[in-house]
Amino acid sequence: MQQKTTIVFDTQFEEEVYHGLTNYPKHLSSKYFYDAKGDKLFQDIMNMPEYYLTNSEYNILEAFKEEIARLFINGTEGFNLIELGAGDGKKTKILLKYFSENNIRVKYLPIDISQNVLDELEASIKEELPKITVETLQGTYFETLSEVNSIQDVKKVILFLGSNIGNLLHPQAIEFLSQIRALMQEEDLLFMGFDQKKNPQTILDAYNDQTGITAAFNKNILVRINAELGGDFKVSNFLHWEVYDPETGTAKSYLVSKQAQTVTIEKLGLTVTFKAWETIHTEISQKYDDDTVAWLAERSGLKIETEFSDDENQYKNYVFKKNKEE
Ligand code: AVI
Repeated sequence: MQQKTTIVFDTQFEEEVYHGLTNYPKHLSSKYFYDAKGDKLFQDIMNMPEYYLTNSEYNILEAFKEEIARLFINGTEGFNLIELGAGDGKKTKILLKYFSENNIRVKYLPIDISQNVLDELEASIKEELPKITVETLQGTYFETLSEVNSIQDVKKVILFLGSNIGNLLHPQAIEFLSQIRALMQEEDLLFMGFDQKKNPQTILDAYNDQTGITAAFNKNILVRINAELGGDFKVSNFLHWEVYDPETGTAKSYLVSKQAQTVTIEKLGLTVTFKAWETIHTEISQKYDDDTVAWLAERSGLKIETEFSDDENQYKNYVFKKNKEE
């Protein structure tokens, strides 16, 4: 009788890399771009002129901060501002500064997986905006959000900026939004950024910059496999490749093997063969329009309260409430 061997993985990273590279077509998850080096590369991406998303959202928050503040307060004494994946908080500080200058009572609760990111953010807010109360929460979004939810008597405003939702396929995005909805009370708000469909060339340029920062970001997943799992990927043997489908609004990133090659990953006891021009799919960055956002909201038991947009409709921030009829 043939014995079936089960492989025991120590981490989710190991398991996903194993399955992704033994599957056809090969794939790896973009969530593994982000180690210390990946975080730094993403910061560099956000400062690139081609990556319009950051500036567009920054401009929306700056232009509408007064209206946004009014919407967040809306008759309450004060509220908890909970940010999922806070990063350096550069954009959120526009709102926090406005709240501070106008004596609006707010407690800022940034959630991030990285304690390091949170420590830096907290220190910078204490220095720049000493009137703002900050309480950092380290952990995954939902575990941490459910903890915050035990404080039922204060209104919650949940921020999810940067079009981070775009890294999820639609079914996953619906699952994500439904989970947030389950943690919302009637008066709570969800404020989210959604990058919009636009000239396809603008999108391709944003994800395929001339300086090669995005290519290094994409390839960082191979660097990580080498460093953490004893891989021997020759990173220069792979090409960063971006495609955008203007019909579906999906931008996809690939790593393309420039030649036939074999890679071993010691920790996984795995040898992976690549044919010349074989691909590893690494990321999706979904672009939206109003109909798609309305559909996602409807499927997740949310309703759109209002939206804010930049002059060219490149990017939008939508405000959602829980749909009472669900
Ligand atoms: C984090 N996320 C929303 C970025 C995006 O636009 O999909 C990650 C990124 N990938 C390439 N450039 C930026």
